Amino acid sequence: MVSNRFAGMLLLVTAALGADPSYFRDVRPIIQRQCQGCHQPNIKSSNLDLTSYEGFQAGGQHGPGATTLLGYITGEIRPRMPLGQPPLPVDQIQLIREWIAAGAKDDTPAEAREDLAVDKPIVYTQPPVINALAFSADGKKLAVSGNREILIHSLEGAEPLRRLPGLSDRILSLVFSKDGSTLVAAGGTASRFGEVQIWDVASGKLKRSLTLTGDTVFGASLSPDASKVAVGCTDNSVRIVDASSGKELFKIGNHENWVLGTIFGVDGKRIVSVGRDRAAKLTDATSGAFLENVNLLRGELAAIARHPSKDVVVIGGEDRVPYIYMMDRAQNMKIADDSTLIRKLERQDGSIAALSWSADGAHIAVGGASPEVTIYDAETGKRTAACKGHQAGIYAVAFSPDGQTLATGGFDGEVRLYRVATGELAKEFIPVPITGGENLRSRR
Ligand code: HEC
Repeated sequence: MVSNRFAGMLLLVTAALGADPSYFRDVRPIIQRQCQGCHQPNIKSSNLDLTSYEGFQAGGQHGPGATTLLGYITGEIRPRMPLGQPPLPVDQIQLIREWIAAGAKDDTPAEAREDLAVDKPIVYTQPPVINALAFSADGKKLAVSGNREILIHSLEGAEPLRRLPGLSDRILSLVFSKDGSTLVAAGGTASRFGEVQIWDVASGKLKRSLTLTGDTVFGASLSPDASKVAVGCTDNSVRIVDASSGKELFKIGNHENWVLGTIFGVDGKRIVSVGRDRAAKLTDATSGAFLENVNLLRGELAAIARHPSKDVVVIGGEDRVPYIYMMDRAQNMKIADDSTLIRKLERQDGSIAALSWSADGAHIAVGGASPEVTIYDAETGKRTAACKGHQAGIYAVAFSPDGQTLATGGFDGEVRLYRVATGELAKEFIPVPITGGENLRSRR
């Protein structure tokens, strides 16, 4: 929201000064938000890559031409762009028109040029913060978030088996479909765009990239039949998108602050979302209609996970306590009613950022500001293991499908694999190739 208002102000200022619209300041943000999903190195619709000025200049199937581009966004040339989405607002079209009329110049500052390129090689001089982890359906591979890419590892660590670069600076969620064919990643580039990426696991190809909102998106979940993806947004909405067409199905606006976590119910027809407004809200995922508040409001909520076969969720956040709730309540909610609460787990040493429920239903793992990850018996609520070894806060925890291994990651940039039964550390590795800092500097 802030960024939109900011862009609006810039427009006014630009108009007032009578200055030409700038590619870097005015045009590029519109293209990033509205066009790059389908016009990027991974998905070059009509052979057009709009992630760089050079790509814009080169043009697509119909050859170069700023007027062609203008024709597509005004609808003079069909199909109108952005394809399948509402037309650009008139002020944005006007701005692009004026930029083209003034010569369609590239005014990207030299120092920003390299930073902006999405197809430049991704180089690490230190381990990146790990925000998301997911095991493949067969349990043999682990997807790990990197900078502007996803790394696919065998559980042996060492070199990544595959690197999947995309548009988003940050990937904050990773989910495999149950059949293992699809990997969903979500994240974005702060105050520019959010993105849902849908990857074909077998080929390592990006099937879809959907850019949405003007900011990073959080807490992605996949419906059990893999037909829908839900994400939480900084405009306080939950968006549900169709996984095969990439179309946005619903924008749900029940929350009063950022939404940080989502999870579908067992039958995929309902969804629970949590966020900074402290609420866990139950919504009909087939109509977008609000159903009810699940919890009693306490602290801000950052994470949610569901029992593998019951409509029971565990939520956690600021107040450090994981709460296990039924999604349904027997009677209508009364003020300060907490009748859906099944159990609280132990209070953690820091706020909670990540939760996972094992596929056999037996265990819940909790990670957050404390470097220690704890594992609980989901039935009794008793702590069964404490996983030590991380140096800093945890952002991601994931059980292997057989429930034997817990993968964890966070601020220290190392992936750790623990034995669930004992909490014993089985393996630790840095998921990215690190280039020596000195080396890099001298090569420049
Ligand atoms: C949902 C995917 C999608 C989005 C978003 C999208 N495009 Fe496209 N674009 C396409 C497809 C597919 C084609 C080929 C259309 C056809 O010819 O049938 C295309 C074709 C084009 C072409 C013609 C290129 C050529 O030379 O053949 C231009 C120009 C274009 N898009 C510009 C844009 C701009 C500008 C935006 C953002 C405002 C945008 N597109 C957003 C999918 C998309």
